[in-house]
Amino acid sequence: MDLFEHQAQELFARHGVPVSRNRVASTPEEAEAAAAEIGGRVVVKAQVKTGGRGKAGGVRLADGPAQAREVARAILGMDIKGHTVHKVLVTEASEIVDEYYVALLLDRAERAFLAMASRQGGVDIEQVAADNPEALARLHVDPAQGLDAATAGRLVADAGLPDEVRADVAGILVRLWDVFRNEDATLVEINPLARLADGSVRALDGKVTLDDNARFRHPEHAAFVDVGAADPLETRAAEKHLNYVKLDGQVGVIGNGAGLVMSTLDVVAYAGEEFGGVRPANFLDIGGGASAEVMADGLEIILGDPDVRSVFVNVFGGITACDAVADGIVRAVGLLTVRGETITKPLVVRLDGNNAAQGRRILADAALDGVRVVDTMDGAARLAAELAGKGA
Ligand SMILES: Nc1ncnc2c1ncn2[C@@H]1O[C@H](COP(=O)(O)OP(=O)(O)O)[C@@H](O)[C@H]1O
Ligand SMILES: [Mg+2]
Repeated sequence: MDLFEHQAQELFARHGVPVSRNRVASTPEEAEAAAAEIGGRVVVKAQVKTGGRGKAGGVRLADGPAQAREVARAILGMDIKGHTVHKVLVTEASEIVDEYYVALLLDRAERAFLAMASRQGGVDIEQVAADNPEALARLHVDPAQGLDAATAGRLVADAGLPDEVRADVAGILVRLWDVFRNEDATLVEINPLARLADGSVRALDGKVTLDDNARFRHPEHAAFVDVGAADPLETRAAEKHLNYVKLDGQVGVIGNGAGLVMSTLDVVAYAGEEFGGVRPANFLDIGGGASAEVMADGLEIILGDPDVRSVFVNVFGGITACDAVADGIVRAVGLLTVRGETITKPLVVRLDGNNAAQGRRILADAALDGVRVVDTMDGAARLAAELAGKGA
């Protein structure tokens, strides 16, 4: 889970990384009140989960409360790289002398943690790394030892940071390691870490990605979830413990087993090229031992997606044999009818593997409206794509 800047700053503050006083606002009036509380000049910053807000006009200076209100009015509702601004951060304006870059991240390729620092912060760090790789110092961190002050000191010296800030920045890196480790993050980044006119060093931006696999250790992180932004179908699927990801196509896909579902997505996308670029609408793995209830839940989620024009149920019978799955589909359609969810979109079913013939017979006997059985995966994908291409 990626955090907003204000949430990242909250975690920084908890672990002693110096940040500026700030308030979150959702309306121009709240921004005005926040600026009045902070006092003096403030910076109003769009809260969106993407970088480059400064360049996009989402970070603006205001002289006082009245101007903060006007600036917030301009920023709220802005679109930054496809993200709509719903909140702004109002924070005290700093007199910046120098901007640095520091980050800790999980380096999957090296199976280690990586600490990075640069004297050239503020700007696009990817650009710095590409144009001038030696300007970005790197150092692997042993997970068992962590990042101590001496090691952090070596990194900032390597990065060529001015002598007078090295101790401060090394200290901040050690606290940033606490954020990284204790909050179970896979990325913490400060850009810029700024040296101010009074000589102090402070995080003026913050980017944090938390490791979702460690969520069970952090009930307190639940407050960071952006409920408004979550796809409602993904939320419903999660409640039913279904492995569902919304995609942007038109063919709903259900399969048993993640590998099968992934190859189904490929086959549907390939077949869809012939029908005007029809693509899969989702990933949904109902798992190996899917019951009728699970099939019904899965169908309900997919049929609830207004973008879906046809559904492809692709099952390879294993421990749960095809006749049980076919039974499940028949009962799922029944269950959905009882729930008042009449199926109005065509369903293409392909059954193969254990007891495939019996499964197909069950579906043929049931003669469900709008359900078609196709024997091969390619053939079924093609029919589903064709039906989605027609059913606009
Ligand atoms: N509190 C602040 N006071 C003064 N300048 C700021 C402040 N916050 C950000 N800036 C300036 O705006 C630039 C962009 O802000 P930043 O938070 O890094 O957003 P982004 O990385 O999304 O562009 C910073 O590099 C810094 O120069
Ligand atoms: Mg930044």
